[in-house]
Amino acid sequence: MAANYRFGRTLLTLILFVLPISVCAAFDNDQGTEAHATLHAADRFPSALECRECHPRQYREWAVSQHAYAQISPVFNAMHGTILKLTNGTNGDFCIRCHTPVGMNLGEPLFTGNENRHQISREGVTCISCHRVNRNYGKISGRLALLEGGVQQRVYGPLGNERLEQVLCKGSGFRVERERIHEEIEQSFYITRPGFCGSCHDVTLVNGFLLSVASFISATCSLDSEFL
Ligand code: HEC
Ligand code: HEC
Ligand code: HEC
Ligand code: HEC
Repeated sequence: MAANYRFGRTLLTLILFVLPISVCAAFDNDQGTEAHATLHAADRFPSALECRECHPRQYREWAVSQHAYAQISPVFNAMHGTILKLTNGTNGDFCIRCHTPVGMNLGEPLFTGNENRHQISREGVTCISCHRVNRNYGKISGRLALLEGGVQQRVYGPLGNERLEQVLCKGSGFRVERERIHEEIEQSFYITRPGFCGSCHDVTLVNGFLLSVASFISATCSLDSEFL
């Protein structure tokens, strides 16, 4: 009787305390791995959410733009998946590298659910897709090697250090967390030129065929046949 009672008590203890702890440990472990992966990715490529802290106006403009929608668009994902299937994968990263430059720089799979991608990859054409580009790539159809590093790493902008120095100057009246700001801002002569946008907006095939021009011509032709 006493032995049965002891057995029952041990079983109860196991069910009430030990099992939940081991389940929690397994759960924590999964969450821990995921949290580490996210942190590691953030060390290489910061999210727009980090930039928002000091640039709320630019963040608001970006967040409602098509750039923020580029990778989460279901139409894009369906078309990209279909094209990969029809070409047996030989289309490679052609479609997706413009729609998520960070995802491709992180070496993510070409086709997978967005829930398996990093937060920053889901952000599509995010801040650093333009502000961590350290050379003028020209008509590259979106194959951009983004500069890596946490949020304090150098960014590229229209004015360079000029305004940063004003903000950091003693008595400027600005209150910013110094250690979280970019160490340096490099002036980028190309970021304000149309050609910079063309590195993604001018879709060029490997043989030099201008896809964007073709779409423009076919759109004009269909308009012609419909209205003329
Ligand atoms: C890294 C690639 C990339 C760069 C660089 C880029 N874009 Fe884009 N842009 C895109 C993609 C991809 C879309 C489409 C997103 C979607 O709707 O899925 C887009 C969409 C847009 C749209 C919305 C178009 C519409 O029909 O709704 C505008 C406007 C735009 N970009 C302007 C610019 C300007 C201006 C620049 C240069 C300062 C620029 N883009 C640089 C990739 C880029
Ligand atoms: C060189 C960069 C680049 C490549 C390569 C590219 N896109 Fe895009 N994509 C863009 C830009 C830029 C836009 C916005 C065009 C505009 O509205 O003026 C866009 C818009 C779109 C849109 C409409 C908006 C949306 O997200 O629903 C779809 C769908 C799309 N692309 C699918 C594809 C597919 C499929 C491929 C591969 C065959 C592809 N793209 C290859 C840059 C690119
Ligand atoms: C498609 C490319 C692109 C993306 C994405 C983008 N920017 Fe910019 N950004 C530019 C360009 C181009 C300029 C220069 C505008 C000018 O002065 O002609 C600029 C200017 C700026 C400036 C200087 C002040 C100003 O507004 O002119 C800040 C700060 C800035 N961006 C922050 C951000 C942040 C933060 C994000 C993300 C939330 C972001 N940008 C996303 C292209 C981009
Ligand atoms: C802790 C604050 C802080 C954070 C976080 C921050 N910035 Fe800045 N940034 C500044 C300050 C201060 C300036 C200088 C004043 C200005 O130009 O608005 C600046 C300026 C800029 C400029 C303008 C450069 C130019 O040439 O005029 C760009 C572009 C920029 N930041 C991009 C980013 C991006 C992208 C991120 C996220 C990866 C980011 N910033 C995160 C504080 C910050």
